[in-house]
Amino acid sequence: MALCLRDTSSLDLRRKLGIMAIELEIYRHIGGLVVKGASRAVILNKLMDFTLKAMDTSSGSLYLLDDSKELSFEVVRGTGAKRFKGMKMRAQSGIAGHVATTGRPYVSEDLRKDKFWIGIKTDRSHKNMLAVPLMKRRRVIGVIEVINKNDGKPFTKSDIKVMASLANHFSIIMERANLFTELDGRIKQFSTLNEVGNLLISTLDQSVVRHRAMEAITKLMHAETGSLLLLDREREELYFEVALGAKGRRLKEVTLDIGEGIAGWVAKYGKPLIIHDVTKDKRFQGNIDKRSKFRTRNMICAPVSIKGNIIGVLQAINKVSGTFTKEDLKLFQLFSNQVAIALDNARLYEEIKDTFYATSGALAEAIEKRDPYTGGHTKRVLAYCLAIANHLRMPKTTLEVLRLSAVLHDIGKIGIEDRILRKDAPLDAMEAASMKMHPELGAEILKHVPQLKDIVPGMLYHHERVDGLGYPKGFKKEQIPLIARIISVADTYDAMTTTRPYRKGLPPEVALRELKKCSGRQFDANVVAAFLRAFRGGEIDGVVRRPPGKRPVKTASRQL
Ligand SMILES: [Fe+2]
Ligand SMILES: [Fe+2]
Repeated sequence: MALCLRDTSSLDLRRKLGIMAIELEIYRHIGGLVVKGASRAVILNKLMDFTLKAMDTSSGSLYLLDDSKELSFEVVRGTGAKRFKGMKMRAQSGIAGHVATTGRPYVSEDLRKDKFWIGIKTDRSHKNMLAVPLMKRRRVIGVIEVINKNDGKPFTKSDIKVMASLANHFSIIMERANLFTELDGRIKQFSTLNEVGNLLISTLDQSVVRHRAMEAITKLMHAETGSLLLLDREREELYFEVALGAKGRRLKEVTLDIGEGIAGWVAKYGKPLIIHDVTKDKRFQGNIDKRSKFRTRNMICAPVSIKGNIIGVLQAINKVSGTFTKEDLKLFQLFSNQVAIALDNARLYEEIKDTFYATSGALAEAIEKRDPYTGGHTKRVLAYCLAIANHLRMPKTTLEVLRLSAVLHDIGKIGIEDRILRKDAPLDAMEAASMKMHPELGAEILKHVPQLKDIVPGMLYHHERVDGLGYPKGFKKEQIPLIARIISVADTYDAMTTTRPYRKGLPPEVALRELKKCSGRQFDANVVAAFLRAFRGGEIDGVVRRPPGKRPVKTASRQL
């Protein structure tokens, strides 16, 4: 029999008032839960409580119809309720299935004789049942059913009207709850997007940007994993730059041609994609899963482009619950734009840094050109410094400062007269004093470049000695910055092993003995130990040495 779900006109006044009170209670109580962001399970359980109270029963179930057209047991009350928790059944099965299919209420006066009843026929605990559909804009979204009235009587037409009216309210509440949850979810996603964006632009290191982007994908898209493929324009192929997890490392050797696979398609056409089921997409390549021993179910892909040029593809793989939506795709595109901006910023910064290093190197080389016998000194000192730093496990940021300090350590020699700098004999006392001015001259030059203020200490104190007998300040031990102590060892080793016009360079082993002898007096013992480890590891003797200068003479060594 068709029923007007809102029509409660034929109910007696007492029941009408009782139902109105429950309805008011539903909106007051559940409305509060929705606003507080209560979970769907909490709201559905509360709806079931109200239903059981209104219908004067103790048993019942609430099902929702999922995307795969199955009815899932969301709430089950009564005997053996736990057995059904989380279970699903086909939308056509049982009384709930019949109600879901027809969209009409259904009363069973004797369940054991009911053709739709799929419970145990001998089970005497279930006598009668009333089930009504939950509707959303004329579409069934679920079913709510109650079993056995507490007074033992069968369900009446009046019960059907009351239950249908409640179901109507429930549908409205659930829709509001869904909208609220969706809105809340979006707000959280955009707030995460904002956080992630700030995190991405807070570094200028491209590899850090890539790794942060990968970590953000799982958090932002609620995905199991993610990957970033970059485009090699010369080879016209994509390669996995970052793929999260231990399994991701196996993808490092995988490459895709433009147009090949899902990522290749995105790179070719520059359009984002949602794949709800990869097994149904011809573009999907199972060999990548085989190699990584990972099972891809669904994915979302977006091109990463800078000023209209595609530089790669981002993928979020396997949504933790359900599949990716169009809303997810919009968010993923925004995220992809943020990654592109952060990568471009980092690339520009690295280009500027490289140019700066090259300019500094060229400057150091120009100074060396004035002294034809020390060619390649700066490059060798830099290589020795980096080898020492490697054995001192120096952090990356300090390493950058060491690198520039080593390149520019003798920049002050620009202010030393040619006749002293190019002299092919040992310096006299006046000349040596003049030459010893070069660290301070260097500091004077660099002080005009604020960006190089961190470089000054390493350069200014590279002729200090740990016993306090060095210059310009006569600093001792830790008073001398570590970078300066490192340059000191590297610089002296190179000076000892380089042939000068007035003396032949020492063989490496002899210079090494000299370093050991002076360890703890002239040089920092830890730095010398690191140098020795680097030497034994073959990191020192591999450095290219310039052919010896002219007219070597046997005189005392000079290292200024
Ligand atoms: Fe020097
Ligand atoms: Fe030097």
